[in-house]
Amino acid sequence: MQHPVLACRQVSRLYGARASEFIKDGHITTDNVQTLQEAGITPAIFNVDLDIERGKTFVIMGLSGSGKSTLLRCLAGLTPPSAGQILFESKDLFGFSEADLIQIHRHQMGMVFQHFALLPHLTVLGNVAFPLEIQGRPRAEREEIARQMIRLVGLEGREHRFPAQLSGGQQQRVGIARSLAGDPDVWFLDEPFSALDPLIRREMQAEVIRLQGMLKKTIVFITHDFEEAVRVADRIAIMKDGLVEQIGTAEELLVSPATDYVRAFTRDAPRAHILTARSIMTTPPPAGPFGGEVSATDRVISFARQLDASSLPLAVIEDNEIIGAIDRAMLLDILIGPNAQAVGA
Ligand SMILES: Nc1ncnc2c1ncn2[C@@H]1O[C@H](COP(=O)(O)OP(=O)(O)OP(=O)(O)O)[C@@H](O)[C@H]1O
Ligand SMILES: [Mg+2]
Repeated sequence: MQHPVLACRQVSRLYGARASEFIKDGHITTDNVQTLQEAGITPAIFNVDLDIERGKTFVIMGLSGSGKSTLLRCLAGLTPPSAGQILFESKDLFGFSEADLIQIHRHQMGMVFQHFALLPHLTVLGNVAFPLEIQGRPRAEREEIARQMIRLVGLEGREHRFPAQLSGGQQQRVGIARSLAGDPDVWFLDEPFSALDPLIRREMQAEVIRLQGMLKKTIVFITHDFEEAVRVADRIAIMKDGLVEQIGTAEELLVSPATDYVRAFTRDAPRAHILTARSIMTTPPPAGPFGGEVSATDRVISFARQLDASSLPLAVIEDNEIIGAIDRAMLLDILIGPNAQAVGA
């Protein structure tokens, strides 16, 4: 297997005056979060282990204060961990010299934040070209690249506007264009759309998915919103009080939540869009007859109508074999979670 682009090995970040008392030889001296808290220490992240695969979108979720931004800032080389290691391309990210780390930030990482952080005195073109200016590229070249990025995010014709003359969604598009201008390998987005209204938010999610399809970046994306996570993620990490409670696909989190906290996050999930035939089928399948076939990887939403209309069960197929069956009577059980979704709506 290819090595992960980024990895955390027992990474912790402690805040508080007495934090150093609990760190020895790069390790935290206690496994007990409560001990730390009693000493007035906030373990913003605690013993985090994870791998981020190349070209995939890794989402970090959790309530406010659960450590998402701290984890992202550690992964991005902005906040050094108190203990443990961040591996970037298999090398200790905080083992690089200051100068090398700056080069990594300029050339291999791009970032988008919740509050768009544009430079108000620069135009759209100036903002997007800014990282390239820092990289020392000649003006003609950086403006050409900046124009391409502006086109990519659909802001062509607005190159000479200032941020104050743009809507929130447009400003965030400038932020996105800027973060991509340096052609980063890893793209970090910390709640990039939470300041936007729901319609624009959906549009921007679609934009990230579209850009990801074209550019194949490795993405680390923070959100509060499970539906947003489902839309963009390959894998999702759920954080609580500095701990990673579970890492998995949306379907894994929904089907086998490790804790009540994870279950609570997935409660309002659009189940029909997440669950596949495999996770709901009964095995072994009956002898037949069947009313039709679905693939084991098909989402419920794609065959819900067919199932609803069929008096016979549907066969679930993998590698040309029937591996299970789905019955119409199961449909409601599947979809009635605490918050059922209208099928086919
Ligand atoms: N520089 C700091 N000094 C002291 N405490 C900090 C610092 N940065 C973060 N913390 C604490 O660490 C914890 C995690 O903060 P973090 O910003 O990572 O949370 P978050 O999950 O991103 O929250 P939000 O959803 O509100 O952005 C919080 O309790 C926060 O108060
Ligand atoms: Mg945050």
